[in-house]
Amino acid sequence: MKRTHHCNELRSAHIGQTVTLSGWVHSRRDLGGLIFIDIRDREGRTQTVFDPSDLPAELFECAAALRSECVVSVTGKVRQRPEGTNNVKIPTGEIEVAAGALEVLNMADVLPFPVDDPEVAKTVNEELRLQYRYLDLRRPEMTRNLRLRSKVATATRFFFDEQGFLEVETPTLFKSTPEGAREFLVPARLHPGKFYALPQSPQQFKQILMVAGVEKYFQLARCYRDEDLRADRQPEFTQIDIEMSFIEREDIYALIEELLKRVWKTALNIDIPTPFKRLSFEEALNRYGIDKPDTRYGIELVDFTEEFRASAFKVFSGAIAVGGVVKAINAKGLADATQGQIETMTEYAKSFGAKGLAYIKVEKGEWKSPIVKFFSSAEKAALTEKLKIEEGDLILFAADQWLNACEILGKIRIYCADLLKSQGKLMVPADRFDFLWVVDFPLLAYDKEQNRWFSSHHPFTAPVAADIPLLTTDPKKVRGQHYDIVVNGVELGGGSIRIHRPDVQKTVFEDVLQIPAEMVKARFGYMLEAFRFGAPPHGGIALGFDRLIAILCGTSSIRDVIAFPKTAKGTCLMTESPAPVESKQLRDLHLELRVAKKD
Ligand code: AMO
Ligand code: AMP
Repeated sequence: MKRTHHCNELRSAHIGQTVTLSGWVHSRRDLGGLIFIDIRDREGRTQTVFDPSDLPAELFECAAALRSECVVSVTGKVRQRPEGTNNVKIPTGEIEVAAGALEVLNMADVLPFPVDDPEVAKTVNEELRLQYRYLDLRRPEMTRNLRLRSKVATATRFFFDEQGFLEVETPTLFKSTPEGAREFLVPARLHPGKFYALPQSPQQFKQILMVAGVEKYFQLARCYRDEDLRADRQPEFTQIDIEMSFIEREDIYALIEELLKRVWKTALNIDIPTPFKRLSFEEALNRYGIDKPDTRYGIELVDFTEEFRASAFKVFSGAIAVGGVVKAINAKGLADATQGQIETMTEYAKSFGAKGLAYIKVEKGEWKSPIVKFFSSAEKAALTEKLKIEEGDLILFAADQWLNACEILGKIRIYCADLLKSQGKLMVPADRFDFLWVVDFPLLAYDKEQNRWFSSHHPFTAPVAADIPLLTTDPKKVRGQHYDIVVNGVELGGGSIRIHRPDVQKTVFEDVLQIPAEMVKARFGYMLEAFRFGAPPHGGIALGFDRLIAILCGTSSIRDVIAFPKTAKGTCLMTESPAPVESKQLRDLHLELRVAKKD
């Protein structure tokens, strides 16, 4: 019995036709002697009816014995549903199929959780869903996510093909270049004691492809990073990876804006306005306290350093005296926060290094706060004016070195926004997408513990040309030609114009990052060599494909858009990986284990 239609196809126009549907038993109801079975396939579901008066007894008994998720083929005649029994919730809801034949293709055991319950994601533990991922993926929400992912991948490939890009696959057995995240190593059987590493991204290969004259490269590339996992991070993930020759930053902005326009139209039928806003790294920190701000709401950081320079409140004037700043936010509508909530918020701020979290609650026309008694009337007036203070507001302060103060209040800003959202006081429409380029990042950041400079992004990012002389004299001031694309507070992607001159790249490795010359040669020698044979100026970007799909699907976890994701501990609960290996395998790989045996 080969299927003639899928389960989301039959309409009134098919009434009278004999059809065969194949799929899973979505639900079974026994009513007044009749058995109703909804058959589900990837496309949808259709109601079939088994009537004992029309069917041989054993066929009817067979239908009666079916359980949820058995696999069946049903042949029968399409007919109008009786008056008043239409199901408006499904597109096939006007018709039903009067079963004449049934073939049971496979039985199903009792399920560990119901597949037909829309609440499963909320009510069933995610670990159980991951263990039985094939059942979880049968749920319509998950099927929709996989379908959207496939559709966006296809639209992306069409887009880049139209723009003259070549999709080039780069190796996933690479070599260890421990500059960024921790890597996964693969022992090389044929080379005792040597290892491949799985690539963190195709960065070096894509740059070499530019030296090879490919000019416009893209790839849906699998990347591997052995880092601590969170909802938006997986140990293996996919990037839309791009590199181009003879371009400037503006070319990348224009290309990505066009790509995202196409993706949003294809996936959600939404026209997103371009060009996107741009914000410098410094402004992003000053106003939002983070380099990936969610600009769908305000609660912006306001600076009060000048106003409190000579304040009687020593916590503020003292911080300023040692080169710090005072910043504040106005969380409108949170004056009713309890003392307990404020304490929790303060502890949260302290977990990011805050020394405290001064506050003012504006309630019944009064400023309730342990610190206002220290404020002069001029200070109070400045706060009122710049923070537009009104009844019901909660003002929160950070006094610290600039970066600390910004970052602490940035976290508190998000915390307050989440609190306001949960209380229904801050509305963010689900279909609003605030895109943003964050630009003008510092090329380098200083690591106090290691006492050296390291790359803010990666060591291949070009400095702004005018700043090249500062590389060795004043590294802090060097601006990088790096950019991040941010949407609704999520870092969707990042990239840069690259260094293409071997002398500049060597200076960055050896003089700025202080990697010993021998190590530079061993790790990156081939790149420096390639650059000596005619490297074009080039640049690129990589977008996190999983994050992109998660945003389009409206989910905060990329696990929901990856068919077989790992848990936060990096395990696959379905296949039970990672797993031990035979000692012979280890011997073949010239490895010996030194792990304490766990029972
Ligand atoms: P970067 O490291 O910023 O840049 O990565 C680019 C984008 O990849 C996504 N991403 C991740 N997604 C899921 N799980 C992870 N563990 C993970 N790590 C990163 C993010 C991020 O913005 N080679 C450079 C790009 C370039 O310079 O062209 C790179 O990989 O969305
Ligand atoms: P103290 O004088 O230490 O009791 O602090 C008075 C108030 O200022 C308390 O509410 C503290 O949480 C807050 N506070 C202390 N240090 C800071 C700081 N660096 N930034 C912001 N608030 C602070």
